[in-house]
Amino acid sequence: MSRWIGTANKGFAPYAMEELRRLLHDIKFQQLSSGEVFSFETELNHGAVLSAIAQHEPIFLRHIQPIERTIPLSGMADDLQELGDVVRHAGSQFAGKRTAVHIRRVEGTVFPYSAADTKAVVDAVLLELGSEPALKQPEWIISIYATRDQLLIGWGTPQELLSDWPGGAVRFQREDGQVSRAKFKLLEAERAFGLDFAQYRSALDVGAAPGGWTSLLLERGLAVTAIDPAELHPSLLAYPRLTYLKKNASDVKLAPDSFDLLVCDMSWSPMQMCKLVLELQAALRSGGIAVITVKLMHRKPLQTIREVLSRLQEAFVIRKAKQLFHNRDEITLWLEKK
Ligand SMILES: C[S@@+](CC[C@H](N)C(=O)[O-])C[C@H]1O[C@@H](n2cnc3c(N)ncnc32)[C@H](O)[C@@H]1O
Repeated sequence: MSRWIGTANKGFAPYAMEELRRLLHDIKFQQLSSGEVFSFETELNHGAVLSAIAQHEPIFLRHIQPIERTIPLSGMADDLQELGDVVRHAGSQFAGKRTAVHIRRVEGTVFPYSAADTKAVVDAVLLELGSEPALKQPEWIISIYATRDQLLIGWGTPQELLSDWPGGAVRFQREDGQVSRAKFKLLEAERAFGLDFAQYRSALDVGAAPGGWTSLLLERGLAVTAIDPAELHPSLLAYPRLTYLKKNASDVKLAPDSFDLLVCDMSWSPMQMCKLVLELQAALRSGGIAVITVKLMHRKPLQTIREVLSRLQEAFVIRKAKQLFHNRDEITLWLEKK
């Protein structure tokens, strides 16, 4: 038996729960924060749940943490003391590791301490245990979730928790002169899928305007062909490595095998997007990578995604489908050209 907290993008928890229900069968859910955070209990043990999730990672599950310990909250200093004791008793597994402490809370919790105060207490215990408190690139994460009247505590590696950000809420710093917020989606995809865009030479960006994705790829050193009938941000036009085709993508003819990366963020009906990407795929070399967003316009996202994947499989191997933190009503696909 094991207990867990799952987190999805706001409004998408029901789909994450549906995916988990299919994956783990005998499972009972409880809502913690509406549409977003839930707890669940299954007959499967901790290791079996982790391996099921590693093999078939649910698209809408942004973050997961086991519930190893529960502390009833009093709203007094005892709560912090008990938290310190729990970590101290869990002890040896943190020794010698870089350990991050992530704290989340529901609105209205009686737990009165700020994340900074809580972290200071846990960090002091970690130092006692020979662990190194870490903010970035931790090997272990202690995840603490304050409900109204309980602290739910668990730990795991960033891979097991599916993210090294609290609740999978990835935050990037907004830059001066950033062309669009959409840039964060591609940045997050690069991290989440373990891609390094700098290793590619030439990219095709379909539906590129105003140019957030194009700007990231140019910054990574790629030559970029950006297609969009709408205007690209003027700051991009100075890049000699940019080719801007101010056209509808269906009117563009491209030489075969001319790109090793194809990105597409068109906010279009999923089936039209598939048709267009399949028309353009000959321009991508075999083994090349595609990163594509799929707009979830209909009521049944899981079915839409199944249909989209089955069409795209004509030309691509599906490496991963994931709703990223920066995706709104959409998911991101990582594909490899056959
Ligand atoms: C969500 S925006 C893209 C944002 C972009 N990724 C960024 O980072 O700035 C969608 C773009 O797709 C373009 N688009 C829609 N249909 C298209 C088509 N058939 N051909 C080319 N571009 C298209 C729209 O003009 C719009 O600029």
